[in-house]
Amino acid sequence: MDKLIVTGGATLKGSINISGSKNASLPILAATILAEDSCIIRRVPDVSDTNYMIQILNKLGVHVERSSGTVRTNPENIISEAPYDLVRKMRASICIMGPLLARTGRAKVSLPGGCVIGDRPIDLHIKGLEALGATVEMEGGDITLTAPEGGLVGATINMRGKSGPTVLGTDNVMMAATLAKGTTVIESAACEPEVIDLADFLNSIGAKITGAGTRTITIEGVERLGGIEHHVIADRIEGGTFMIAGVMASEGITLNRVSRNELKSVEKVLLDAGHIVEFNEAGDSVYVAPGKDPKGFQIITEPYPGFPTDMQAQFSALAVITPGISVIEDTVFPQRFMHCAEMKRMGADMQVDNGQAVIKGGKPLSGAPVMASDLRASAALVLAGLCADGDTHISRLYHIDRGYEHIDEKLLQLGAKVARVRE
Ligand code: EPZ
Repeated sequence: MDKLIVTGGATLKGSINISGSKNASLPILAATILAEDSCIIRRVPDVSDTNYMIQILNKLGVHVERSSGTVRTNPENIISEAPYDLVRKMRASICIMGPLLARTGRAKVSLPGGCVIGDRPIDLHIKGLEALGATVEMEGGDITLTAPEGGLVGATINMRGKSGPTVLGTDNVMMAATLAKGTTVIESAACEPEVIDLADFLNSIGAKITGAGTRTITIEGVERLGGIEHHVIADRIEGGTFMIAGVMASEGITLNRVSRNELKSVEKVLLDAGHIVEFNEAGDSVYVAPGKDPKGFQIITEPYPGFPTDMQAQFSALAVITPGISVIEDTVFPQRFMHCAEMKRMGADMQVDNGQAVIKGGKPLSGAPVMASDLRASAALVLAGLCADGDTHISRLYHIDRGYEHIDEKLLQLGAKVARVRE
């Protein structure tokens, strides 16, 4: 296993390009199962999650070739059973359920386990696919969905759960509905940019989807879906993560290939906390730098367009070095505070209770051996390490490699002192 050694104190400068979105790539790659012709997907980040998804597609009979950020898929003879050993490694693989069911009439996948950020149920996915006519069997940790003889039939479905909309649940039902008979209306749909990008991809291969990006998505079923070339949107979470690196440990850095429209909530918190955030006219490049008089901030995560849960751990690192009190509450994943125990080992003053972290910032951090626990918590530890005195050894680097493309190379390009070493 690799670990990352971060030596604090370096001042970041210069610029980097932000990669394509992991969370847009995964459902779009899954959606190629629906396409009867070949597809070319560009800007797919080289992260282990997309590598797993490509392996799953290969096992399902979709011929996949990858060269740097471009993935070419060619459907050959699709089978309906996903490989257990791969599916269990990545929760997001649950989004092959909808396309597999719609394309083959059956889908057998292993139930995703929970993970450190909390219970990850799929009851809403099942509710939505059952509403389209699927029957569901669960046995031995697997779930098997079967479409009716005549195929799936459109329905009106409210997909809201106790924590609000579901991103991958909305994706699964939207993908399945593209080949269902008649009209499907998804109410309380997720509005994330990644859902919009998936809908754009599906429409470009012949689907008839309207309303993506709003709480009500309408899908008119069609007989067949073709192939296309698609460019994945920028990764707003990677972009937001490096924006925080810029206000924590630089004299000013520029991030290219971002999308301002998807970073509004991140921009607002950074500006309110007294930092410098300047987007260019086109909104695809942003200059960030520390403010002269930074202050504490309050964050409550919500489904998009609210503040993203995927950014709260990274903001915890900023809060730790910001004089004053900051309060961060995660209403989407209330248990998503694994990074706090590790940051306390570095000297952070944080109290976590009942889905909320109260952080007394401004105390100096000291480097320490810490353990990555999940994707965004790991990124938060890297950010804290940039500002700590001495070396921070972050073990279990595979968590970061799941969703950040070549993070060490990007940090080195900005002048950070980081080294990836084999443990
Ligand atoms: C997506 O996960 C993202 N992953 C997550 O990013 C992100 O944190 C999450 O959306 C919320 O924005 C991908 O897109 C691959 P949800 P998803 O279903 O779709 C509850 C990262 O760091 N729920 O929107 O799996 C659930 O418990 C990852 O890149 C149900 O109750 O999340 C949660 O409280 C981590 N029943 C809330 O909904 C269900 O059937 C939102 O979960 C499904 C979800």
